[in-house]
Amino acid sequence: MKFNIAVLDGDGIGPEICAGAIQVLEAVGKKYGHTFNFKHYPIGGCAIDECGDPLPEKTVTGCLASDSVLLGAVGGYKWDDMPVDKRPEKGLLRIRRAMGLYSNVRPAKLWKALAKASPLKYELVKDGVEIIIVRELTGGIYFGDRGRDTGPDGEYAWDTERYSVKEIERITRIACELAVKRGKKLVSVDKANVLESSRLWRSTVHEYCAKNYPQITVEDVLVDNMAMQIVKNPAQFDVVLTSNMFGDILSDEAAQVTGSIGMLASSSLGDGRRGLYEPIHGSAPDIAGKDVANPIATILAAAMMLRDSFGLVREYAAIEIAIQKVLDEGVRTADIMERGKRLAGCREMARLIAERV
Ligand code: IPM
Ligand code: MG
Repeated sequence: MKFNIAVLDGDGIGPEICAGAIQVLEAVGKKYGHTFNFKHYPIGGCAIDECGDPLPEKTVTGCLASDSVLLGAVGGYKWDDMPVDKRPEKGLLRIRRAMGLYSNVRPAKLWKALAKASPLKYELVKDGVEIIIVRELTGGIYFGDRGRDTGPDGEYAWDTERYSVKEIERITRIACELAVKRGKKLVSVDKANVLESSRLWRSTVHEYCAKNYPQITVEDVLVDNMAMQIVKNPAQFDVVLTSNMFGDILSDEAAQVTGSIGMLASSSLGDGRRGLYEPIHGSAPDIAGKDVANPIATILAAAMMLRDSFGLVREYAAIEIAIQKVLDEGVRTADIMERGKRLAGCREMARLIAERV
């Protein structure tokens, strides 16, 4: 089969890690008889430099014309002081909206070979951790009404958390589809003891699940308690459903528990099959261009694309197994290096994985 992939390399280590993922995809194509066409488009800081806009029109058009999108990372010191609409992150937020990607799935999986890298006590993680965070991605406070004004007390600012039943239902469906294939257990995270939007979230999730997925047990956990439970006993969680803002925060926490943010990928999807796949980590400008970044998260993101956008389950597995093999052989990038292992750079790591596909 033939697939057109839009590649948004972005900033910092973005181009290196995307190159690694492309190399692995090409190996998959060769082995399984697929053709992947790659077209690169600017996003983030490099797009501001090139076109004066973190998300140029040609990037949106290119993404919408593709079968799926692979993204490296955006951001860097250089653009930190730019006005809000000219910041690299804005490019990411706008492409999510433009592509209608309301569902962000972020699996935080502890690779057995890397269990010692977790900052938690070994007993807490020794049996494995795999928390699938399903984060709503195009609503809530990220996209709600906001502004600034001056009142009797001086200047003030506001951001608004707003969710409709429709927005909550469609993301709940995604989480339920994952939960039925896994442990049939769903944890929904909110702040219903304080927020009205959370009370609507909670009642909608329960009604929707009871009606459409009666086989799933739904448990509500308040976000502050959730933050604590993730470090207290991460193995208790399977599929976790939450809003845009809470998902942003909790997914970083869950990722860190696995000890290796350089190993985690995420998918963003809407109603169609075209998605955007990216590593969870950022653009790491401090190590950009030094060939020391870990390309595995981006390689896994590419694997998720094969499975979730193109339905290529066997090819997904081939990549996952190739990564496992390289780790079992003791090869490590700097971020996951341990004593007694062999250090590899970004390019070498990607090449070894590609060779083992
Ligand atoms: C993420 C990031 C983004 C977000 C930023 C870069 C806008 O933190 O994907 O988690 O907050 O969604
Ligand atoms: Mg984040």
